[in-house]
Formats: sequence, C-alpha cells, structure tokens
Amino acid sequence: MKLIVAGSTGFVATEVIRQALANPAVASVVALGRRKAPEPQRLDPGADVSKFTSVVLENFDNEYPESVKGALAGADACIWTIAVTPSKSKTVPREQVIKVSRDYAVKCLETLSRLPREGDSKKPLRFIYISGHKAERDQSKKPLIIGDYLLIRGEAETRILETAKQTGGAVQAAVAKPGLISGPGKKTSWLQRTLLSLIGLPSIEVSEIAAALLQQAVKGVEKETLSNDDMIRIAREMRARQ
Ligand SMILES: NC(=O)c1ccc[n+]([C@@H]2O[C@H](COP(=O)([O-])OP(=O)(O)OC[C@H]3O[C@@H](n4cnc5c(N)ncnc54)[C@H](OP(=O)(O)O)[C@@H]3O)[C@@H](O)[C@H]2O)c1
Repeated sequence: MKLIVAGSTGFVATEVIRQALANPAVASVVALGRRKAPEPQRLDPGADVSKFTSVVLENFDNEYPESVKGALAGADACIWTIAVTPSKSKTVPREQVIKVSRDYAVKCLETLSRLPREGDSKKPLRFIYISGHKAERDQSKKPLIIGDYLLIRGEAETRILETAKQTGGAVQAAVAKPGLISGPGKKTSWLQRTLLSLIGLPSIEVSEIAAALLQQAVKGVEKETLSNDDMIRIAREMRARQ
C-alpha cells in the first residue's frame, strides 16, 4: 500500500515514517510537508529507505500543483499530523490556527478524494486526522483551559468526518485523540504527569501512537474516533502478537 504522511518534519510523523519503512505491508511512503523531510534515521532491521519520497508543498491553501497531485495519486491512506499545536497557538493569530489545523486538512482530503487510485481502488482511502484528547466538538461548551483552541480543533474533527462522508465512499476518515505524547527527547517528569492526570490528560508514547495509526492505515480503521486508550490497546495488542 501507498501511505502519505502529512507534516512529515514533525515529532509524530517522523516516528510514523520510521515505522512505515520497516512495515512489509507498506510499499511506499510519501512524506508531505512545507519543507523537505530529512532522510529517516534510526531505521529498524528490515527497513527499506527506497520506499521513502519527500514531497514539498509550499502552499497548502491553493489548488495543489500537478506535480504534487501526481506524487499523491494512488495513495491508500494518509496520516495527517499538520496543526498549530497548543504551545504555539498563543503566538499565532486565530485565523491562522483555523486555517492550518482545519482548512489545510479538509483541502487535502478533498484533493485526495478526486485523485486516481489503482489496484485496490474500490476500498476507500483512509484519512486519519490527529487531533487531541481534549478537543471539543460541542461548540456550545466552553473548556476552561485553552478553550478557544480546543473548540477550533473539535470543529476541525467534525469537518473532517463530514467532508469524508460527502466523498461518495472515496475517503473514510478517522480522528485520533491522543493525550500528551512522550518520546525520546520529550520525557515528562513525575510531577508533570501528576498535574496532567489531575486535569484528566492521559499520555501515550510516540512509538505507540505511530504503531496504532500505522496499523489502522494498513488494516482499516476500527472506529471513527480513536481515543488515547484505543491507541495504546491497539499498539500493545500488536506488540503481543510479535
Ligand atoms: N506532541 C504532543 O504531545 C501532542 C499531543 C496531542 C495531540 N498532538 C497533535 O498531534 C499532531 C502532531 O503533533 P506533533 O507534536 O508531531 O507536532 P509538530 O512536531 O509540531 O509537527 C507539526 C507538523 O506540522 C507542520 N506545520 C505546522 N504549521 C504548518 C503550516 N503553516 N504549513 C504547513 N505545515 C505546517 C510542521 O512543519 P514545520 O516542521 O515546517 O514547522 C510539522 O511538520 C498535531 O495535531 C498535534 O496537535 C500532539
């Protein structure tokens, strides 16, 4: 299968790409981003770096250039990691947060739904949008902490799911809602973890979220909304089978 990883220079995407290169079910990995993705590092045994292509899209607003559409055509799944993250949202204008975190993803989903597919094309393309545990779809609610940001991300989830349903079966979408993602270089202290659990924010290892989302991209999404617990369970079930 052909996999697109959007936001290819980011923390989660880097791990998804690293694992995808060692996954025999993945024949090609298109790393889509606004700048060139670095050559994957820390490869697992059996990883095949020749499956990797970096595709640069300088402007996610406009109609995608034919060269980019050509590189994305025939994809079976897309894992979407692009967003303005909470820590950066304070320094970015609200309109930009909406554009990057919602509109870019909707545009990509619509673009992919119109591109030709080969082989397995009767199956829908799987579009997995990574959001956050606390993102709130109900726009009448007012989350206490970073409420406006959480409502923007929740509205983005709704739009992604609705847009996919309007593609006439071309795209099936799922939303992943991780809590804090930890990993090499992003360790959280015991105190931080205690404070996060007090506000009800779970956590997940980057290797686990990457494994779970890759499995869903390859095998099919088990449900429209994947919680932090769902992703930990999927990753641990996979590890137990290895
Ligand atoms: N990390 C966590 O603890 C955590 C927890 C819960 C949910 N999430 C969610 O998981 C997703 C991935 O998070 P992450 O930690 O991997 O984020 P990240 O490391 O900040 O990566 C974000 C990616 O989005 C790209 N991007 C940002 N602004 C862009 C723009 N204007 N145009 C095009 N690309 C843009 C970045 O490109 P550049 O490299 O060029 O900036 C990068 O490739 C996000 O939706 C995030 O909210 C993360």
